[in-house]
Amino acid sequence: MSKARLLVVDDERGVRALCSDVLRRAGYEVETADSAEQALARAQAFDPDLVLTDINMPKMDGIELCKRLRERNPDQIVVLITGYPSIENAVAGMKEGAVDYVTKPFTPDEMRLVVSRALAERDLRDENEQLRRDLRGKHGFETILGSSAALRRVSETARKVARSDTTVLIQGESGTGKELFARAIHVHSDRAARPFVAVNCGSLVGTLLESELFGHVKGAFTGAHANKVGLVSAADRGTLLLDEIGELSPEMQPKLLRLLQEGEVKPVGGVETHSVDVRVIAATNRDLKAEVDAGRFREDLYYRLNVITLDLPPLRERPDDIPLLVAQFLERCAIKARKQIDGITDAGLDYLAQQSWPGNVRELQNVVERAVILASGAVIDVGDLNGDPGTTLAAAPAARVPSAAPYLFENLPLDEVERRHIEHVMRKVGGQKSKAADILGINRTTLWKKLRRYEEDGAPIDTGGDDEDDS
Ligand SMILES: Nc1ncnc2c1ncn2[C@@H]1O[C@H](COP(=O)(O)OP(=O)(O)OP(=O)(O)O)[C@@H](O)[C@H]1O
Ligand SMILES: [Mg+2]
Repeated sequence: MSKARLLVVDDERGVRALCSDVLRRAGYEVETADSAEQALARAQAFDPDLVLTDINMPKMDGIELCKRLRERNPDQIVVLITGYPSIENAVAGMKEGAVDYVTKPFTPDEMRLVVSRALAERDLRDENEQLRRDLRGKHGFETILGSSAALRRVSETARKVARSDTTVLIQGESGTGKELFARAIHVHSDRAARPFVAVNCGSLVGTLLESELFGHVKGAFTGAHANKVGLVSAADRGTLLLDEIGELSPEMQPKLLRLLQEGEVKPVGGVETHSVDVRVIAATNRDLKAEVDAGRFREDLYYRLNVITLDLPPLRERPDDIPLLVAQFLERCAIKARKQIDGITDAGLDYLAQQSWPGNVRELQNVVERAVILASGAVIDVGDLNGDPGTTLAAAPAARVPSAAPYLFENLPLDEVERRHIEHVMRKVGGQKSKAADILGINRTTLWKKLRRYEEDGAPIDTGGDDEDDS
């Protein structure tokens, strides 16, 4: 790494000499200036990493210098040197963007410390900036593909609201990209460096969900052996995605309302509330207003959630987006499948544009992935895509999969309960085995064996979708 460059500005020759001596010995490259005017000229050519300037100088003072330097380069780091009586000046300097100050007289150690601390802080800031860029590359709006006017319009709104702390309601059919948008909003917000936590409100019932969200205190219920922090607190200063908010039970709705109104959570079994700072994004594939009208969703909660609503258009209403998505999926799937795929025929694209895509982008992705795996040539054609059009419904909209009360166990043998549970999960994930295995907490081979056995027993699992995505 090259030496950091420092510019020392002071009208007293003695101070300049002392500083540059100490700092050169500490391994920095140092230049000096005897006035603010000279410093401005030097800074232009020398491009210092840090400017160390006296405050009291005859013509332009150090604070004005700091201001001018930072007008030219907002990232310029400035440290002030101040005589003992003028700490107020130092404070004024901080307002102009100086990061720190040393008081005269200072020891060599103090001088070295203040410089190295200021530079370290800058490095940290640069690192954060880099992390932020990486995060955006992976989860930012750039990863949301689509050139249709409809998609561009929602993307634009989403970008605008990202920086604010407003609650956002994302509505759209299954597979339209609700989670994708939620993540993009998070990484483009000031909360990007903090956690993004997603909770599926439909996956747990009663106390389990409440404890998952708000935590519990020891002894709150059977099995609560210790205090547990909830996901809301885990998302503190970050973003909380409440997925499938339409499935939130009537008992949970007022508790969530309290979080939104007061910014407070109360662990199950606890008496005290804790305040948390989370930005809430809610997602649903139901029409939440209709749920309100039907009396299943609290109106006050609805209005809290839908400050800004993003309605993600279904894929069938934006066939223009298909070529871009397909190109991306082909490339990704080809790498994953280690196959040489050069593209897709026009007829293939036309075929895709004519489908109704009830499982939206996720379904398209599954169809493309299967085509890549099964294709015998390097160019995908209709024959590779329409393997069995009737069964390519990767993920039917949740409204059609009765997930609120999916199955009743009482009268079933354990094996059958397991089979049904696996079926339920497989449907939820649109037939993606690795995802299902993750959720079920078993490895893929185990899942695969079970699925094979069900087939052999003549009771194959109906995922309502593609089941060859990752076998
Ligand atoms: N515009 C898009 N560009 C690229 N990929 C997309 C786009 N929309 C969706 N996808 C991809 O489709 C898949 C489904 O997206 P996502 O999980 O965000 O949907 P969802 O609306 O949350 O679905 P569900 O209601 O089933 O939870 C993901 O793999 C996502 O990356
Ligand atoms: Mg989702």
